[in-house]
Amino acid sequence: MAFSFGGLTQMLSSALGREDGGSVLGIDIGASSAKIVQLRPRGGSAILETYGEIALGPYGGQPIGKAVKLSPEKTAEAIIDLMKEANVTARSGGISIPFSSSLISVIELPKVAQDALKRMVPIEARKYIPIPVSEVSLDWFVIPEDESEKSAFDRVSSPTTPARSPMQEVLLVAIHNDTINAYQTIAKTAGIQVEFYEIEIFSAIRSSLSHGIAPILVVDLGAATTKMYIVERGIVRLTHLVTSGGQHMTENLGRSLSWEFEKAERVKRERGLNDSAAYSTDENDRIKTAMLSTLSRLFSEVNRVLLSYGQRYNKSVSHVVLTGGGASLPGLSAYAKEALNAEVTIADPFARTEAPAFLADVLRQIGPGFSVSVGLVLRKLKSTS
Ligand SMILES: Nc1ncnc2c1ncn2[C@@H]1O[C@H](COP(=O)(O)OP(=O)(O)OP(=O)(O)O)[C@@H](O)[C@H]1O
Ligand SMILES: [Mg+2]
Repeated sequence: MAFSFGGLTQMLSSALGREDGGSVLGIDIGASSAKIVQLRPRGGSAILETYGEIALGPYGGQPIGKAVKLSPEKTAEAIIDLMKEANVTARSGGISIPFSSSLISVIELPKVAQDALKRMVPIEARKYIPIPVSEVSLDWFVIPEDESEKSAFDRVSSPTTPARSPMQEVLLVAIHNDTINAYQTIAKTAGIQVEFYEIEIFSAIRSSLSHGIAPILVVDLGAATTKMYIVERGIVRLTHLVTSGGQHMTENLGRSLSWEFEKAERVKRERGLNDSAAYSTDENDRIKTAMLSTLSRLFSEVNRVLLSYGQRYNKSVSHVVLTGGGASLPGLSAYAKEALNAEVTIADPFARTEAPAFLADVLRQIGPGFSVSVGLVLRKLKSTS
């Protein structure tokens, strides 16, 4: 099945207009856990029918919170368990593809007609993709020109060249065929009909961002990696992957307090950066210091990305949205506001859904981890509007 990230320009439009229809699944298979949501469109909004998360570590003989590489069969087993536990009734929807299994670049091509572009992109893609083009599935999207900000993006023309550039920018996306095959096996084994695949970036953005124009940095704090995406006018302009995440925070904490991974993971999630009466002042300090050693390094990388994008395009990225399971760390918001050179918000993807009021607090708390799964379904609901 082909994948695509269609409708990028409409990505940030807020209406979920669609006639009532069947329930749709969004499935995000992360490195440490799989998340699922089931939404049903009704009168222009999306009703949250059910959601759930399952740790993948135990399926690979590892503790909860560890990133694991599972076979497609093992992964399917976890998804089947997850669907059972979450009382999922729908059987079709979208599945996300990890950013790390994809290649995304903005390339410059001459302005030619769409059919000429079709021939040109695979040829041009060879320069950007380190493996034979026959081994990947390609997709692309012409980035619309922004007349008012021409100079900011125009890398080819100098002030003396004519205003209309002969070049156009194209967002190129490649996914290895092996990756798609593995996902097809997972879906088939778990009895899921995949309506579309989407690289997790596009799903996370759809559910995390509301306002359109100014550049925003989305930071997805995962288990083994942290992903950063700068989005401007609804379009991904820059991506950055850091091989450090929540798992390293847990490992640091375990090492520093001589705790097993399991205990460190539990304490991290329960108390986070906040002091707890259950520990002495000295222990509280050591716990916080251990976690901050990972976090402060990650956040200086975030600041570096903010700064370098700002300098390159001569504009400032004034807003950071934190998403991914790591964004649920208690006390994170206050620390991030201090440490990051931008306004900070924590993603709240369930705010885009309709759910019973008594769930509001829980959904806000666990929400960041579900950004990708919720975003997947929102795409489906929007595309049929
Ligand atoms: N309440 C919490 N407080 C702190 N950390 C948390 C909390 N809940 C989950 N995490 C951490 O979030 C990380 C997992 O995040 P997430 O589920 O987004 O990752 P993933 O999708 O499995 O990984 P990736 O996106 O890298 O593939 C783990 O390190 C986990 O310990
Ligand atoms: Mg993830």
